[in-house]
Amino acid sequence: MFASVPGPIGLFDSGYGGLTIFDKIHKLLPTYDYVYLGDNARAPYGPRSFEVVYQFTRQAVAYLFEAGCQLVILACNTASAKALRTIQQKDLPRWDATRRVLGVIRPTVECVDRLSCSKHVGVLGTSGTISSRSYEIEIAKMFPCVRVTGEACPMWVPLVENNEYDSPGADYFVRKHIDRILSADPLIDTLILGCTHYPLLIPKIRQFLPAGVSLCAQGEYVAESLRDYLRRHPEMDRKLTQGGACRFLTTESAEKFSEAASIFLRTSISVEHISLT
Ligand code: DGL
Repeated sequence: MFASVPGPIGLFDSGYGGLTIFDKIHKLLPTYDYVYLGDNARAPYGPRSFEVVYQFTRQAVAYLFEAGCQLVILACNTASAKALRTIQQKDLPRWDATRRVLGVIRPTVECVDRLSCSKHVGVLGTSGTISSRSYEIEIAKMFPCVRVTGEACPMWVPLVENNEYDSPGADYFVRKHIDRILSADPLIDTLILGCTHYPLLIPKIRQFLPAGVSLCAQGEYVAESLRDYLRRHPEMDRKLTQGGACRFLTTESAEKFSEAASIFLRTSISVEHISLT
């Protein structure tokens, strides 16, 4: 269905959040070519149903495959929780069994055991990620002794998407969820930021975090896991072009994305508008 010539690595998120993953991957693996797609016009995905998140994510992955990507990272926990498995099991075998789609939950879960001393961890995520219980399920498989408490933070993605993550208005919503998760399990010593938008809120979160509780942002773990994957899969590595080029696509306004993304990435970028159907 798709032409099989070497191509860039694709990254997909509902909006800007996946840039926190792109940033770390690009720093670790700068020679590869990348295409980043943000579905800003339909963000946030967090409150949407399984079916809708699956359909939107499927459209985005198909678009990135059409654009020549051989490997796509769902740089979005909500899409990883609600759509990854169906795409891997149902769509990939029909589209092209040699391409790959990977998520961000598994690489994050792999580091949980070494980060937490108390073996009590908290996961902050969108309503979709928390209600899917994906972190609990994956952590229970890998580290059955670790106790996991989830907390949905439905206002955090809108704060980031609307550039309010640093505003005094964000304080209330950040403090509320930090207090809630830490009173649900006072033994938590590690909070996983289970949403790729949340690293932008780190300075705010730290204001309300008691000493002894650390934050785990996913970017570095996902980047290391990708490097590892490419070492273990030379057949995929050979299918990736390495010219150091990065393309950015959004389903919303290209100007708006370019302005916001340039702040996140601390460099100016050019952006193309696309439509997903
Ligand atoms: N960055 C997405 C995630 O990691 C945000 C989801 C949303 O759009 O609500 O879950």
